[in-house]
Amino acid sequence: MTLESTKNIHKGIIKNVEKIAFNTYAIEFFSNLNRVFPGQFISIYCPNTVLRRPFSVMDFDENKNTLKIIFKLKGEGTDYLRNLKEGNNIDFLAPLGNGFNIKKQKALLVGAGVGIAPILFLRKVLNERNIENYFISGFKTEQEVIKGADKTFVGGSVLDEIENIIKENNIEIIYSCAPMIVLRKLSEIANRLSIPVQIALEKVMACSIGVCRGCIIKISKDNDIVNASVCKDGPVFLGSEVVWD
Ligand SMILES: Cc1cc2nc3c(=O)[nH]c(=O)nc-3n(C[C@H](O)[C@H](O)[C@H](O)COP(=O)(O)OP(=O)(O)OC[C@H]3O[C@@H](n4cnc5c(N)ncnc54)[C@H](O)[C@@H]3O)c2cc1C
Ligand code: FES
Repeated sequence: MTLESTKNIHKGIIKNVEKIAFNTYAIEFFSNLNRVFPGQFISIYCPNTVLRRPFSVMDFDENKNTLKIIFKLKGEGTDYLRNLKEGNNIDFLAPLGNGFNIKKQKALLVGAGVGIAPILFLRKVLNERNIENYFISGFKTEQEVIKGADKTFVGGSVLDEIENIIKENNIEIIYSCAPMIVLRKLSEIANRLSIPVQIALEKVMACSIGVCRGCIIKISKDNDIVNASVCKDGPVFLGSEVVWD
């Protein structure tokens, strides 16, 4: 098969599927995507499920034409993906969503669980641009740890020492992808300390392209509360604009 693209539908060829932690896999595949930004995602066609499945981009190499995702085994879609083999085809929509708005400010990166995926990509880009950063990650168990952070919390919360870390490292901006509850608490802390925080949200998605309105959240804009779709307007939002239920 050749690599093809029609609008944002792409065909890729699997390079490698690897188990990297408990119930966690990484897939690398060749694609002909031109550009992807950290925080953007792709939506993969899995023949055994009706709807495509969304995954954050964990790495993109424009020289080698490769894209990488990591995922936790959940149901039928991820079971299909982990059984793919080198040379198999993959069909995906990309690039989707807005991505992080990278600023030249000393950054704290916070990734929890497989939420570490877009943060690993962001870390790479910040380092390439010589933007100072400190990266913390959190996992429920030792077996689930995915390497790459400067400091990893296992068992407790990634937020346990966050205020000290922010102060000791003179942090000016925070970027995060983690479970909703962590993002909510992180946003509260950042708002209290008057530090901007950009958070990559996850919502169960049907279309992934802004059509079905199934991934709507409320955000505050210009003194008003408005609807925003996580797949098209996000998945990255300012922690200060999200209206938490
Ligand atoms: C923008 C975005 C980026 C994502 N990035 C990653 C990633 O990098 N790595 C990763 O492992 N997962 C990621 N997810 C979650 C991933 O899409 C789901 O785990 C996956 O769709 C489950 O598919 P499944 O068929 O294996 O499981 P299903 O049988 O569909 O579902 C199994 C369980 O997963 C839950 N689930 C299904 N879809 C989602 C979803 N979209 N978000 C959260 N939970 C869901 C279901 O409620 C159910 O409890 C992301 C989701 C979004 C919206
Ligand atoms: S998933 Fe359909 S609008 Fe977002």
